[in-house]
Amino acid sequence: MRIRVIHGPNLNLLGLREPGLYGTDTLEDLNRKIEELAHTLGIEVEVFQSNSEGEIVDLIQQCVGHADALVINPAAYTHYSIAIRDAVAAIRLPVVEVHLSNIHAREEFRHRSVVAPVACGQIAGFGSNSYLLGLQAAKQIVEEARS
Ligand code: DQA
Repeated sequence: MRIRVIHGPNLNLLGLREPGLYGTDTLEDLNRKIEELAHTLGIEVEVFQSNSEGEIVDLIQQCVGHADALVINPAAYTHYSIAIRDAVAAIRLPVVEVHLSNIHAREEFRHRSVVAPVACGQIAGFGSNSYLLGLQAAKQIVEEARS
């Protein structure tokens, strides 16, 4: 089983960026945790980060015929990118939306996700663990669909 993980804009700055909100793990630390869990779960992961909306759309489209599921933190694009929402809807694969912070407990403009309605679900507020929970959820969804 292969799961793609996409980190959206500004997540390359993790560790430096508002650590009170996003924690002190760097993107490298987070990716190491994702890879360690993937190894434990016996699945393959491929992890990407991009600051660019079009590149994220390309990375989502490439999942077709290549990955079994997608875990994505669309970051700020969560709240307004119809292009990313449409790409998620188009690939017809299980998609789990994740956020480090609890977007529902923050500014009102972050409460709305345009991606969540076309994802299997959303995990928010558990820091780096949101990704680890998202990876486990994605794996389970793929397994359930296969059984
Ligand atoms: C975020 C929440 C978004 O509102 C914000 O724009 C981000 C990170 C999170 O992981 O908590 O860049 O997606």
